[in-house]
Amino acid sequence: MGHKVKWGIVGLGSIANHFVKDLLLFEDAELVAVASRSSEKAQAFAEEYRAKHHFNTYEALFACKEVDVIYIATPHSFHAEIAIEAMKHEKHILCEKPMGVNTAEVEKMIATAKENKVFLMEALWSRFNPSILKVLQLIRDGVIGDIKYIHSDFAFPALHRDHTNRLLNPDLAGGSLLDIGIYPIFLSYLLLGKPENIQASSKFFETGIEMQSSMLFDYSDAQAILYSGLNSKSRMEAEISGTKGSIFLDPKWHEAQGYTLEKDGQKTHNNLPTTGRGYFYEIQEVHTCLRNNKLESQLWSHQNSLDLIGLLDEVRQITGVVFPFEQ
Ligand SMILES: NC(=O)c1ccc[n+]([C@@H]2O[C@H](COP(=O)([O-])OP(=O)(O)OC[C@H]3O[C@@H](n4cnc5c(N)ncnc54)[C@H](OP(=O)(O)O)[C@@H]3O)[C@@H](O)[C@H]2O)c1
Repeated sequence: MGHKVKWGIVGLGSIANHFVKDLLLFEDAELVAVASRSSEKAQAFAEEYRAKHHFNTYEALFACKEVDVIYIATPHSFHAEIAIEAMKHEKHILCEKPMGVNTAEVEKMIATAKENKVFLMEALWSRFNPSILKVLQLIRDGVIGDIKYIHSDFAFPALHRDHTNRLLNPDLAGGSLLDIGIYPIFLSYLLLGKPENIQASSKFFETGIEMQSSMLFDYSDAQAILYSGLNSKSRMEAEISGTKGSIFLDPKWHEAQGYTLEKDGQKTHNNLPTTGRGYFYEIQEVHTCLRNNKLESQLWSHQNSLDLIGLLDEVRQITGVVFPFEQ
């Protein structure tokens, strides 16, 4: 690793355009190369964000010797295949969430990372959000006592989109669960671990994708009520209620810019604005790991990604969400 961490980006869609702006905030990062299936898009992206190289195949970027770490920003259904190929070229990987579409894919990705001795992390950016880190610390310090109840949701209307849009396309692992349901599940897992029992119910859209899911995560001494949907909006404020108080993460809680602590009849709001849009912190974690020769993050480990996809698999199994390529 030289003075600068040399990045490549694969799949130049919506999230890549947000992520790159946070990447450019780092003085010790260099955007070396970008790859798209389209030459025009690759060239325009490279010009806009001053990337040294641009490629019209992903494989060309994997082969680029100057790149240390690749950020994968394609639809979920391609994460595993692309990450595995890139890791075989000895590239470190930051892969958009979900890491893979099911446990089998995530297991293969982790095995490939270990075989090739490269860094691999799921881009679960909320894990590094300052408000969420602060709330985790307050809970560990016992400020709200023992957690008994979590309510966490993530929904926005998306059914008006073109049916080929990745969210509505079952061939691209569309639906609410893997895209946004992953966040409420993540919060419950982060705070309470894996539940003893899950109840869940999903509704489906005409394209075959799951469009709405309600989940009850039952713990030995607590319950979490979780929700994701693409057919209407939800408030997206997370509520964490304990025996001595409650915490409310500001909407949209997965990218919170602050939180409210309610205790002894008093409510206190705290602002904790993110640097950039908030992708800054996952990038910082990648840099810290790479500079310390760590092949996985302690804050969002391989096991954490496996547990998370395991919970998503379990919900899907209960509510009958199967992608065409899994049949
Ligand atoms: N962390 C976050 O806040 C966040 C937010 C949104 C999305 N995401 C994640 O990021 C990933 C991408 O989401 P997005 O919203 O950026 O999607 P998007 O706008 O559709 O972009 C995805 C890109 O993937 C590439 N791609 C390769 N094969 C494709 C195919 N068969 N169909 C469509 N696109 C294909 C395309 O780039 P080229 O044409 O350049 O090859 C496309 O622009 C998803 O896994 C999602 O979960 C994360």
